[in-house]
Amino acid sequence: MRMIEINEYDESSMQLAKPVCDSKRRVLLGSGSKLHPKYLEKLIQMGIKYVFVEDSSSKGISLDEMLDMPTWMDIITVVERSFNSVVTNKPLPIVDLQVAVKKLIEEIKKRDAIMLIPTTAVDSLLTPFAHTVNVTLIALQIGKKIGLTNSALNDLGIGCLLHDIGKSKTNVKEEHPEAGFNIIRSNRELSLMSAHIAYQHHERLDGTGYPRNLSENDIIEYAQICSIANDYDNFVSIEGVVPHEAIERIMTFSDTKYSHSLVAAFSQGIISYPPGTNVKLNIGTGIVTRVESNPHRPIVKLHKLLKEVDLNKQPTIVIESILKEKVV
Ligand SMILES: [Fe+2]
Ligand SMILES: [Fe+2]
Repeated sequence: MRMIEINEYDESSMQLAKPVCDSKRRVLLGSGSKLHPKYLEKLIQMGIKYVFVEDSSSKGISLDEMLDMPTWMDIITVVERSFNSVVTNKPLPIVDLQVAVKKLIEEIKKRDAIMLIPTTAVDSLLTPFAHTVNVTLIALQIGKKIGLTNSALNDLGIGCLLHDIGKSKTNVKEEHPEAGFNIIRSNRELSLMSAHIAYQHHERLDGTGYPRNLSENDIIEYAQICSIANDYDNFVSIEGVVPHEAIERIMTFSDTKYSHSLVAAFSQGIISYPPGTNVKLNIGTGIVTRVESNPHRPIVKLHKLLKEVDLNKQPTIVIESILKEKVV
């Protein structure tokens, strides 16, 4: 299986490897089916930019670094209900949120490094909620790398799942952090730390953030983690930047926007080239088949020789670019 941009889809050689659902989670197209041009058009209208496919070059490739789609969708639904509960003045679904965070902690503990499902792989109505799930996954991964305890990971996870909850109260960008802070802190069952994540997730180490222009040690570490995760998901999901470039963008601001040690922890836990990516190496072209010991140096099967090279054992072989389609 591999993930492709929807406009790379070729009906003659590819079939869907994962179902495509609408915002109510109704299956529009099951796995194994072909994407007829008429459907392709409809999916593009729904804001879907990526699909998972099986074709001759994806055989034997699995995306174990990625959360499975049903789990991802379940947690998206919990976040959606949380946002709706604020709009309708009902209590937050605290127990469901806690179960969701526990599940995400289990998922990141299973994996050394992760990749995200871009939020543009689902109906655009779900994008804001899918975003918070992605942010939480990355944040928990950073939290794990810096050795946070389970209870700290729990507070971090709840704060990240709800980091944009203020958007359900206000449309003014600069106001959503404080609105979110007030929503979370009015729930006694939730930690004040989680509330401060929402309040501070747009603050920057150099004082250029908002709403309070906090800087350096005035920003709590959890909020810094959330802000790295937030920016990374926005690069990948909204701007459509490929993972290795998004990681480099984050690294650019190490020590200006974000703390250097957290950026280092972040980069250890995210893979640069997801399995199924066609790449141009300095020795020819190939497809990434898996990631083992190093998240940035994958194993690549060369198209011409049909043989695998482990980039982590071959320091002189480098990836020069990503290829949209297989070039032999
Ligand atoms: Fe935000
Ligand atoms: Fe966000």
